[in-house]
This record gives sequence, structure tokens and C-alpha cells, in this order.
Amino acid sequence: MPVVSTKEILDRAFDARYGVPAFNILNDLTIEAVLAAAVEEQAPVILQTSVKTVRMYGRDPLVAIFQALMRDIDVPVALHLDHCPERSVITECLEAGWNSVLFDAHELDVAENLRQTTEVVAEARRHGAHVEGEIEGIQGVEDGIGSDEASVQQSLEVAVDFIKRTGVDCFAPAIGNAHGQYTAAPTLDHQRVSDLVEATDVPMALHGGTGLSVEQFQDLIARGCAKVNISTALKERYMQSSLEFLREAEEKGKWDPPSLFRHQRAAVMEMAQRHMRLFGSTGRAW
Ligand code: 13P
Repeated sequence: MPVVSTKEILDRAFDARYGVPAFNILNDLTIEAVLAAAVEEQAPVILQTSVKTVRMYGRDPLVAIFQALMRDIDVPVALHLDHCPERSVITECLEAGWNSVLFDAHELDVAENLRQTTEVVAEARRHGAHVEGEIEGIQGVEDGIGSDEASVQQSLEVAVDFIKRTGVDCFAPAIGNAHGQYTAAPTLDHQRVSDLVEATDVPMALHGGTGLSVEQFQDLIARGCAKVNISTALKERYMQSSLEFLREAEEKGKWDPPSLFRHQRAAVMEMAQRHMRLFGSTGRAW
């Protein structure tokens, strides 16, 4: 199975009520480890890139690494651009083959956001790609984008109107979720997910996945959160496993980079597989 459309991955998950993890990958090692986890679990998966990662690598080297590592992968995978407020970066990524984008225009007023998101949907369609929409900021700063302030929640009517009129394929509601580790267990507005799904029949994206409980994940996935974003957990496993390994390397005076890479890969794979099992995407590859 080559790269497939994000919409196909999400629609299947939405219909069968399982969640597909969307991991914010950082480099070749994390791309390869997440793909290996998906193969091991026979699970569909979404790899997403922050704007910061696109800038750090450069669009072309990043997409070339993704395509090279995808060559022998036999499970459905899509490449998604996470929170992007910049139309020029959206265009660059769509032109290079990203399967979907989150046009994050929550800082605009809703009418202007709706107007521009409609244009982004039309642009994406010309590339056979799909769009996630957002009208409220998700609390917390993710790779330099966002704010620590809780955002204003729009009414259900405004959100439903936005989803229907823009034609977005997926929607990211603010329900008390936040990027980064939670400082206290969050109280989530799960009813809002049910109300949005009932009114629109569009899959929801659950942001701020790191730190939610098993019950919260399962409840929100059952209500229609087909895409579940995980970033901080990947970053933490990647860096903490590196730290463990490097401390030991220092103690032993033994410096062998390939052993470090194996250690990091195993940690990222374990984290990814754990989320696939928890979200019910294991065994759902087609
Ligand atoms: P976490 O960093 O909390 O896992 O959130 C990820 C996310 O929502 C990316 O958009």
C-alpha cells in the first residue's frame, strides 16, 4: 500500500470508530520508527510535520526522505502538515505532495477564516489533497505556533456553519485540550464532539493527545475523533531515551552512534505501537 489520502484513512476510522494516531515526526529516524511501528501493528498511520520541521529540513529534502522511507511500506500512510497559518507554506507543501494540511487561521475572525479556508480547500482539491480546519486556538505552544492562553470557544452553530460551508474533511475543535503535558487532568467537553459529529458527519481531530487518559481517548474516539495528534510523547521518548543511553555511554566511556540510534528507534517504536493499540488502529491496515 503506497501513500494514501488522509480522507480515506480518516473516513474508514470514523465509520468503524477507531482512532488513527497522527505523530509529529522530526527527522529520518522518527519517520522510520513510526513506519516500522505501523508495519508491526498492521495499522494505518498519519505522519505530520510542523511548519518548524518543514523549515528546518527544507521542504524538498523532507519529502524526499519520506518518499524514500515509504518505498517498501505495505500499510496505508498519509503525510499531513500540522498547524499552518501561512498560505505560502500550505501551497509549497501541497505542490510537493503532502496529502493534507491543517490551515490554522484561528487568529483571523471566523468570516475571514471561512473565506480563506474555502480557498485552501479548493487549492487542496486540485492536488487531490484534503484539509483540516480550525476556528479556535488549541491551548499551548507547539513548535513555535500557538499560545498558552485558553482560546475563545465559538458556538456550535458557528462551528457547524464553518465545517459545512468550507467543506473541510476534518475539524479540530477546542474542547479543553492543550498541546504539551497537562499540568492537571483536563476536563474535556466531549459533548461538543458528539454535537459536531451529529450535525456534520465529519471526522474530528483530537489535538493535545499527550497526557490524556485511556478512558478519555476511548470515549472521544467513540464519539468521532478519528485523528488523534501525538507530538509531545514522541519528543519526550526520543530525547529521554537518548539521555538514558548517553549517560550510560559516558559511564562506560563507549561512544557508538549506531547503538544510540537503535535505542532511540526502539523507544519511538514502542511509544507509537502503544498508541495504535490503545486507539484501536492495530490490524486495520487494508
Ligand atoms: P501533544 O503535543 O500534546 O501530543 O499535541 C499534539 C498536537 O495536537 C499536534 O497538533
